[in-house]
Amino acid sequence: PAPARLATPPMGWNHWNKFRCQIDEGIVREIADAMVSTGLRDAGYQYVNVDDCWQAAARDTDGRLTSDPVTFPSGMAALADYVHARGLKFGIYTAVGEKSCEGRPASGGHYAQDAATFADWGVDYVKLDWCGATGDPHALTSEFRASLDSTGRSMALGVSRHGSPWLWPDRPADLWRTSADIDDEWHSMLRNAQEEAGLSGAAGAGKGWNDPDMLQIGNGKMSPVEYRAHFSLWAVLAAPLLMGNDLRRMDPETLSILANREVIAVDQDPLGVPGERLRTNGGEEVWARPLAGGDVAVVLFNRGPHSTEIRTSAHEIGLRPAHGYRLRDLWTGQEGTTPGSISADVPPHGAALFRVTPNAHGPAWPTLSAEADYLE
Ligand code: DGJ
Repeated sequence: PAPARLATPPMGWNHWNKFRCQIDEGIVREIADAMVSTGLRDAGYQYVNVDDCWQAAARDTDGRLTSDPVTFPSGMAALADYVHARGLKFGIYTAVGEKSCEGRPASGGHYAQDAATFADWGVDYVKLDWCGATGDPHALTSEFRASLDSTGRSMALGVSRHGSPWLWPDRPADLWRTSADIDDEWHSMLRNAQEEAGLSGAAGAGKGWNDPDMLQIGNGKMSPVEYRAHFSLWAVLAAPLLMGNDLRRMDPETLSILANREVIAVDQDPLGVPGERLRTNGGEEVWARPLAGGDVAVVLFNRGPHSTEIRTSAHEIGLRPAHGYRLRDLWTGQEGTTPGSISADVPPHGAALFRVTPNAHGPAWPTLSAEADYLE
């Protein structure tokens, strides 16, 4: 079968950001339940992904990977069944070399066997970590991809940033990290967003997705303003939306960010073209993403410590000429119209996110210049 190609960036949850190695099957089951009861599944989140530390200290006597007998005693097939029974998909973690980052057995020397095991268990998504492995990342990823494909089960493949996978022409992965691990901390989130400036052309529908790492929203160390900026940037970047918080205990504000359907719709836009940073000066940034049907999503992002008014225009963000535009603020729901200028007062570490729609009738300026390079 052809490699799994995700038409839009994956959405779901992964245990790592919140739980590290303090994870067990009971928590994962409760998270799957919470994803349903909170409405997050119906908002589009699909995957329940287990990260490092699910593995037993050694392979079994047949050389198969097996789950930690203390923390995952029922086994991964049972856990996958539990997740599937709730209308969700199941993801698992392994690594390119012989050991995971936490020293558990990983897939080095066992690609075909592990792919078959994962298919057997009903895995839908594999995160393939690097962790100081040796060898050529592209060749090893291609080999792993071929092993997944030869099982006949369609499994998405997410990889690390080693070897710059966004440059690989044959696209063995469905998504690839572009930066170091994200922490629940403003500068870390900011760094990972900035690392993607200039990379939009490498990703998109039919290619695969740039991954600035999993969400930290709801983990408590950033403010709601900062978490909304985090989600706004990830949506415009067409980033995977893998929640990293404890879905069993969310305050209403956290849920309202993660479940914002209009922001999710930007992330999941069917045109499948990631956004790009158009401008950065001082603490002010403008990011924009072309959407299906001719809309554009724009983020007015304030990296700085003071409130500031950030301005852009329909022309700068690559909208087609029109006699006016409709603006919708995707965080407040406020609507407005403009002949072309777009601006907002943005709090420190904040982001305004608008969907801008050209009015139906005719051009208002004669030529749309080729300045909107990021559309290509
Ligand atoms: C490094 C990855 O980047 C993290 O996301 C996480 O998977 C850890 N390894 C687990 O060891």
